[in-house]
Amino acid sequence: MALVTTKEMFSKAYNGGYAVGAFNVDNIDIMQGVLNAAVKTQSPIIIAVSGGALKYMHPAYVRYAALAASEECDIPIALHLDHGKSVELCKQCVDNGFTSVMIDASAYDFETNIAMTREVVEYAHKRGVVVEGELGAIAGIEDDVVVDDKYGSFTHPDDAVEFVHRTGIDSLAIAIGTAHGAYKFKPGQKPQLRFDILEEISAKLPEFPIVLHGASSVPKDRLDTFNSYGGQMPEAIGIPEDMLRKAASMSVCKINVGSDIRICYFGELRKMFALKPTKFEGREFLEPARAAVEEMVTDKIVNIMGSAHKA
Ligand code: G3H
Ligand code: ZN
Repeated sequence: MALVTTKEMFSKAYNGGYAVGAFNVDNIDIMQGVLNAAVKTQSPIIIAVSGGALKYMHPAYVRYAALAASEECDIPIALHLDHGKSVELCKQCVDNGFTSVMIDASAYDFETNIAMTREVVEYAHKRGVVVEGELGAIAGIEDDVVVDDKYGSFTHPDDAVEFVHRTGIDSLAIAIGTAHGAYKFKPGQKPQLRFDILEEISAKLPEFPIVLHGASSVPKDRLDTFNSYGGQMPEAIGIPEDMLRKAASMSVCKINVGSDIRICYFGELRKMFALKPTKFEGREFLEPARAAVEEMVTDKIVNIMGSAHKA
């Protein structure tokens, strides 16, 4: 099956009450682990590549690896630029075989965000590529959120409507309490997502696909493996899985997972290095790490996204 955009994926997900997982990949092994899970569960899948990962893997390798995947796997696969920080990077990815790009101009003021996003949309749509925009502050644990009104630093529903209409984007990443990284909440802090804001946005933008970033759940078993073999991430806390499931059943059509992939992959590598001190053949370590990614992504597809058998 050829690489596809997320257009049809999202319309099916919206109507079917599930979400499609976008998993961050940093190398071919991780990409294969993610794809194996999608094939096994017969799920559509989004391969997410950040600007940093693109630089590390090199654009041509990313492009041809994704094409190889589309040749090997009979499921819908989208190749997506995650958090494109400049218009130029987005255009480069549009020209390099990506089927979807995210322009993340959320750090700029509203009008600049609209102008940059609009420019990417005009370029991408002419070439059959879809665009994700971002509005609102998707926090990190260090951000002290000062709530001065009902919406605080979360995405304001009226702004979302104006942003979508003026930019022409295909999907929108919103801030409702998720955060990037493995330390989303302070110890003792109760994880909370603002489903009321999500509902308001969906009511004002019917049928429009919403994206949830910062959605790693930091699974306990993976974190335990990581920490048992020399890792030091004792305080990591993610988004509870039931909240993600609820979001997936609503207007959220894409759920982004990056930190969990890394905790899982490097946790398994740590374990293998510790358990096989006499080995030095790469596959002794890499195959179990890839299999661990496959296992964890399978679990997420089945138990969080709800996208199994939707390929
Ligand atoms: O864009 C990538 C995701 O938003 C990563 O979120 O750190 O919770 O995995 P995460
Ligand atoms: Zn993100």
